[in-house]
Amino acid sequence: MTDAIRETAQSNAQDVVELAKRHLVQPWPTAGEVGAEARPLIRGGEGIYITDGAGKRLIDGPAGMWCVNAGHRREELASVMYEQAMLLSYNTPWYTMSEPSAVLAKRIADYAPGDLNHVFFTTGGSSAVESALRFMQFHNNVRGRPEKKLILSRGGAYHGSTYLSASLNGRPRDRDWMDGADDLVVKLSSPNPFRRPEGMSLAIFSNMLVAEFEETVSRIGADKIGAFIGEPIQASGGVIVPPDDYLPRIRKICRDNDILFIADEVVTAFGRLGHVFSSGEEFGLDPDIITFAKGVTSGYFPLGGMVVSERLLAELRRSNHPTAMYAHGLTYTSHPVGCVVALANLDLLEGGILAHARAIAPYFQEQLRTLEELPLVGEVRGTGLMACVECVADRESKNPLELDTSVGMRIDAHCHELGLLVRPLINMCVMSPPLVITRDQIDDMVAILREGISRTMDDLRSEGVWQG
Ligand SMILES: Cc1ncc(COP(=O)(O)O)c(C=O)c1O
Repeated sequence: MTDAIRETAQSNAQDVVELAKRHLVQPWPTAGEVGAEARPLIRGGEGIYITDGAGKRLIDGPAGMWCVNAGHRREELASVMYEQAMLLSYNTPWYTMSEPSAVLAKRIADYAPGDLNHVFFTTGGSSAVESALRFMQFHNNVRGRPEKKLILSRGGAYHGSTYLSASLNGRPRDRDWMDGADDLVVKLSSPNPFRRPEGMSLAIFSNMLVAEFEETVSRIGADKIGAFIGEPIQASGGVIVPPDDYLPRIRKICRDNDILFIADEVVTAFGRLGHVFSSGEEFGLDPDIITFAKGVTSGYFPLGGMVVSERLLAELRRSNHPTAMYAHGLTYTSHPVGCVVALANLDLLEGGILAHARAIAPYFQEQLRTLEELPLVGEVRGTGLMACVECVADRESKNPLELDTSVGMRIDAHCHELGLLVRPLINMCVMSPPLVITRDQIDDMVAILREGISRTMDDLRSEGVWQG
């Protein structure tokens, strides 16, 4: 243990929280709390568990931030980080390259569907999305289509926190106080079956979404639209699983209109749905670009990237502008330590975690769905090892509004006491544990969540806020 780690491990948890309150700006703060916020201290992790500042063990319900897919404290990942750092800690990707980046690119390309054979590495998901969109702009400039740049995104989407990626976001509240490149983005409806018009079948709902897409393309003109970007399952929007035929139909319209189809697989790749990529295997899609991050290193190192179609690169190489430059790259593009962790992580996934995730997912979904018995729960949905428990004030109207500000946070607070970290999202709780979770651990997780929701219902009743 280094002195720096020993020092923090021995300090009083409350002192650490005080330091943060005085000096640390945490992500997604409110104006009233920015730079002065006490968040729960987490000090250790093992498997599906993390340990908080008081030494309490919690199930890591969201796997960090949808990322610790292989679980915490994997020696196999930690040791390769050390070894690579001792061999070559960094090399400039501007005019040199490292072995791990080339080997990882080939391995990722082998998993990607269609002709997605080339990988550009970034530092995470936002930079992956940014790279894909800047690539679309560059591609159209070089092809002599400088007008073809608009990006189609959707309500409920989350694509990142850099300026352009954040401009795509469509979740309620994300843009209330934040600016964005609105002239570059066109928003479509979220394919959220739970919020579809009352009495409408899924088939008609899908037709409606496709018709909206077609109408948008014909109204704006395909010559103005460069790309559609979508998460196969909208993750941070509340695990929105679209109707089955919706994505393949959108893919076809994109192909027919020379609009790039970008699948944002930052959450759905690297095992969350039991596959390295889910575009092809789960959804029958062959996107032009796939963006990934998070689970690629199981969160042990910040790495992301995009896999790009051979066809698009060939078009650039054949163009009349061989000196045109894709002036885009990051200091940590192709980081050798990150790439080596990703290679070791792929070994773990192939060595049993993917198969385990596929085998355990039905039990995970089935057990969580038992929570629909609780009157506060409007719907439990999801697929693979990602799910969302959506609370509603009233099941008939599905109204989340009266309860929306604090229900997720209230459930999270009760669950923390009971030994589970959940990811509260307004009136929803998202569950996406490490993929190594067992049946017994799923039972524990669901039992705690049930008790946390029950206690929340009691609180709401005793405060006179809800009578369900
Ligand atoms: C689908 C999706 N895309 C992009 C991002 C942004 O990734 P990052 O936070 O690594 O920049 C996220 C983050 O949650 C995401 O869920």
